Amino acid sequence: MTEALIKEYSSPGRKGYSLPELDVPEENPGERLPEGTIRKEAVELPEVSEVDVVRHFTSLSNMNYGVDSGIYPLGSCTMKYNPKINEDVARIPNLANIHPHQKEKYVQGSLEILYELKQYLAEISGMDEVSLQPASGAHGEYVGLMIIRKYFEKQGEERTKVIVPDSAHGTNPASATMAGFDVVEIESNERGMVDLDSLREAVDDDVAALMLTNPNTLGIFEKDICEIQQIIHDAGGLLYYDGANMNAVLGYARPGDMEFDVIHYNLHKTFSTPHGGGGPGSGPVAVKDRLAPYLPAPLLKKEGSEYYWDYDRPDTMGKVHAFHGNYGVMLRAYAYIRTAGGEGLKEITENAVLNANYMKHKLKDTYELPFASDSLHEFVLSGSRQKTDGITTANIAKRLLDYEQYAPTIYFPLIVKEAMMVEPTETENLRSLDRFIETMKIISREIEEEPELVENAPHNTVVRKLDEAKAARNPDLRW
Ligand SMILES: Cc1ncc(COP(=O)(O)O)c(C=O)c1O
Repeated sequence: MTEALIKEYSSPGRKGYSLPELDVPEENPGERLPEGTIRKEAVELPEVSEVDVVRHFTSLSNMNYGVDSGIYPLGSCTMKYNPKINEDVARIPNLANIHPHQKEKYVQGSLEILYELKQYLAEISGMDEVSLQPASGAHGEYVGLMIIRKYFEKQGEERTKVIVPDSAHGTNPASATMAGFDVVEIESNERGMVDLDSLREAVDDDVAALMLTNPNTLGIFEKDICEIQQIIHDAGGLLYYDGANMNAVLGYARPGDMEFDVIHYNLHKTFSTPHGGGGPGSGPVAVKDRLAPYLPAPLLKKEGSEYYWDYDRPDTMGKVHAFHGNYGVMLRAYAYIRTAGGEGLKEITENAVLNANYMKHKLKDTYELPFASDSLHEFVLSGSRQKTDGITTANIAKRLLDYEQYAPTIYFPLIVKEAMMVEPTETENLRSLDRFIETMKIISREIEEEPELVENAPHNTVVRKLDEAKAARNPDLRW
């Protein structure tokens, strides 16, 4: 299972095209281009045929693993298979080929799609106004927090702190710091939820907001949400909802109904476009009316039947994207929401929760389950029981690759030792869930009977076990 570099297939004079003889006078580039911009020597490009190119890239793609290959239970990342129709919609030429500089009157159809998407996102979250500008979840968090800053600035209040539970996503404290706040971390209780006493202790007149990932990174819904919101609002603070895990509550619970003031979505997790590929994302921010003036500018508005960008927003927190956000991701999300419909969105949640709980139930006797509280769309196991001098959670994750399955997120959340955060996602069927469960059990048996097999995994992948410290410190990236 190796593949040469495309350069190595090169043979002088070989071509991937066949063109007729030139029947017009050949141009001398020197007549048109400024001196110094013309190459003296030809670039050393591979000289290959079409079949060389197709086979090379097909071979590389076969070595890869993705949501089209099998289960991808990377907790917190919602790496789910999404219907391909969403990809088709994002590629419709009339949508894909427009330019943000086109006049509004020529792109009314696209603006209508974005406007409707905003309405869906407001409705699903129970909020009033939405900006589609932020380009990722963390970007949305930053925008949400800057909105909160602006709000207090306008109120003439100087609040410097943001409370973040230790079960929050790692981007939450990072975004709060980037937005200029001091982060106050509070501990989770034995149920894996916000500890109300610690929260009460942390709250004072300096607190601008509480940032809550809900369900949190243990996959647990914060059952004390009503008390939590009361404590923060009573102290004059605002409530920020990290809505990246909305596939756990769609159609069942709305942050707006829980009295939250700001929320960000991860369209690239919940509504098509798998997360984790490092590609474009979209982290829309939705707010209650009182925070709407501070949303990024411009804001998409509608007057009569006309859609337009409203730039006249004196209190805005600013602009956070060169144009209007990652349109391709929004188109996929729009198609996803429209094809699912209200009932379909509820079904997504039901399947996400059912799949996670099925897996948790089947694996909890083999691997330690540190928090027994009910799970929603994901759950966290620990490899502590399996941990010996030689075997770690990282080894278990690598061994899974040998069985042609992707590994869960490991060593996160930080509050669980040897954590394995499993998010099977709503799109997996019983067959693939059972296959993963069985593989996890086989690996646990291997650790008892043949530990070196697990310790030295992976054995069947293109790249074998790496010395991770050396790979990070001394990467050899050259051919
Ligand atoms: C709960 C939660 N919040 C925030 C983020 C950050 O999103 P992004 O990676 O798009 O910045 C993620 C990403 O997976 C997440 O799971």
